[in-house]
Amino acid sequence: MKAKSSSWIEKAKERAALEAVKHVRDDYIVGLGSGSTAAYAIKEMGKVTRQKNWQILGVPTSYQAMQLATEYGIKTTTLSQHPQLDLTIDGADQIDKELNLIKGMGGALTREKIVASASKKIVIVADERKLVEKLGTNHPVPIEVLPFAVAMVMLKIRKMKGKPRLRETSGKVGPLVTDNGNFILDVDFGTLYAPSRLDSQLQSIPGVVETGIFAGMADIVYLGTKNTVRKLKKR
Ligand code: 5RP
Repeated sequence: MKAKSSSWIEKAKERAALEAVKHVRDDYIVGLGSGSTAAYAIKEMGKVTRQKNWQILGVPTSYQAMQLATEYGIKTTTLSQHPQLDLTIDGADQIDKELNLIKGMGGALTREKIVASASKKIVIVADERKLVEKLGTNHPVPIEVLPFAVAMVMLKIRKMKGKPRLRETSGKVGPLVTDNGNFILDVDFGTLYAPSRLDSQLQSIPGVVETGIFAGMADIVYLGTKNTVRKLKKR
C-alpha cells in the first residue's frame, strides 16, 4: 500500500480540491477524477451537494472514483447517457506553466482523458510539488497498451529513444491490469520539449490505447501550498 504523504502535503491537496469544488453548480454533470487529490474533491462534492440539496451526477474515471462517489452519496451516470459534461475535476502527476500535464500514475489515464475531453471545463488539483519547468524531467510518461501488442509497442518506443518499463503492482504478481483490461508502460523520454507532438507520435503506434500526456486540455489548475492555494489559468 502507498504510504500517506506528510501532513502539509495532504492539507495542500485538500485545500486545492476544496477550491476546485467551488466550480460545481446544481444539476451539473461532473467528471470524477482518480487519485488521492481528486478523492478530496469527490468527498467535498458529496458534502456540498448534500448540504445544498443539489442534484449533480458524476461520471467516474475509475473504480476508485466510482466507489468513493457511492460512499459520499454522489449519484453516478455514464458517458453513454451523458456524453457532454459541465466540469471535470482531476489530479495530475506533473504540470507545466502552459498547463500541459502528465497523468496516469494511478493507471486511470485513458478514462481520465476521455472524460476530460467530454467536459466543457477541466480543473486540475494538486500540491505545489507537481509544478515543473518542463514535463518529463525525472518522470516517466505512462502509456496504456493492449496486452496483445505490448512487446511490439516497446520495440517501437525504444526506436523513438524512449526507455519503457512494464508497470507491475504489489497486489498481484505480474503486470498491472488497468480498469480496461490493458497494461501500462512507464516510459522515460527525458525532458519533453514538444509534449503535444510526442503524444501524437505515440498515438500513431497501433496497440497504444492512450497516453498520459494531456497537452492543452486543462483550463484551471489549483496548486495547494503550505499555507494557501495558487490558481493557474490557461492563457
Ligand atoms: C491517475 C492520475 C492521478 O490523477 C494522478 O496520478 C495524481 O494522483 P495523486 O493526486 O494521488 O498524486 O492521473 O491516473
